[in-house]
Amino acid sequence: MGEYKIAVIQGDGIGPEVTQEAIGVLKAVGAKFSHTFTFEYALAGGCAIDACGQCLPAETLAACKGADSVMLGAVGGPKWDSVPNAQRPEKALLGLRSELGLFSNLRPAKIYDALADACPLKAEIVAGGLDILIVRELTGGIYFGERGYRKGKYGVEAFDVEAYSEVEIRRILKNAFEVAMQRDRKVCCVDKANVLETSRLWRKVAEEMKSVYPLVSLSFMYVDNAAMQLVRNPKQFDVMVTSNMFGDILSDEASMITGSIGLLPSASLGDGTFGMYEPIHGSAPDIAGQNKANPIAAILSVGMMLKYSFHLEKEAEAIENAVKMVLEQGMRTPDIYSDGTTLLGTKEMGKAIVECI
Ligand code: NAI
Ligand code: MG
Repeated sequence: MGEYKIAVIQGDGIGPEVTQEAIGVLKAVGAKFSHTFTFEYALAGGCAIDACGQCLPAETLAACKGADSVMLGAVGGPKWDSVPNAQRPEKALLGLRSELGLFSNLRPAKIYDALADACPLKAEIVAGGLDILIVRELTGGIYFGERGYRKGKYGVEAFDVEAYSEVEIRRILKNAFEVAMQRDRKVCCVDKANVLETSRLWRKVAEEMKSVYPLVSLSFMYVDNAAMQLVRNPKQFDVMVTSNMFGDILSDEASMITGSIGLLPSASLGDGTFGMYEPIHGSAPDIAGQNKANPIAAILSVGMMLKYSFHLEKEAEAIENAVKMVLEQGMRTPDIYSDGTTLLGTKEMGKAIVECI
């Protein structure tokens, strides 16, 4: 019986459509399990540029900082393509992540039995479903390292530096071990420790972390092998934790083995329980305003919020089960529709999931 304050950034394109369905689902969970969720709406992205000339207004940051968690739809679209770079809608995302200290990006890749035919891998590889979670470091490493040009052996050369401090590694690993405790308790640390010094430091810190979480089994894998194993036998993984660049690449690879982008949620976490939750898709301007968007990614994102920020396990499970149920009943939005299934719009899919809850 808790009270939770959620900042809602609906954003642009299909953002408002899918967040409305996610809010409906949260309300249903609140009614069923006697929790109160309150919603404070804030602007970011293109709609904020239209309203006040800034992609991330100070009031929005204040609303997020004053909330227990943030839910975000998606930002951007062709309407703002000519806006100068510093105020592009997408800059709002980077601003939110850095201002809110969200250094850990969680992306589950899950295959539902009912949608097994959407998976590009052979059926026997994913028989019985797939459920893995990639934990990507989000604010350090080579994307944030020293960079530039210098005079080298063969003339001018460009360089980008991969640097990680023990503090940065420890906090992301702590997150990975914590989420593993809520799953199958298996962490695979993906690196390139046969070549990179930073990877060797990751391994040392991971070994130390393991002694804090004796119930979690820890393994290490080189990133090139991990890329191959994700296609060869993805079911061997539970939680994969890795650096910013390796995680960028592997999380895209993992998401593609699940089928539609409209199904995949994500969480960005920091030190505490505060987090920002959003579908991995963008604002989908091609289908915006047509009641065609799949709201499942947004709905599963608030499921992750319940689990990771509020530690409401049963409630999170209720959302996952409801999604599974509607898929098993053959309900489909256009992105996952096939012959013999029932075609629903965004609103109708949200309503069906609410009814299952
Ligand atoms: P997108 O993810 O918006 O769309 C790619 C394709 O997937 C489109 O055909 C779209 O219709 C489809 N799609 C996406 N979400 C769907 C859903 N829920 N249900 C059914 N179909 C769905 O990526 P795109 O087109 O590259 O980007 C559009 C805009 O979104 C751009 O301005 C981009 O910068 C922005 N964007 C924002 C993100 C965010 O806010 N986190 C992430 C990615 C892109
Ligand atoms: Mg990427």
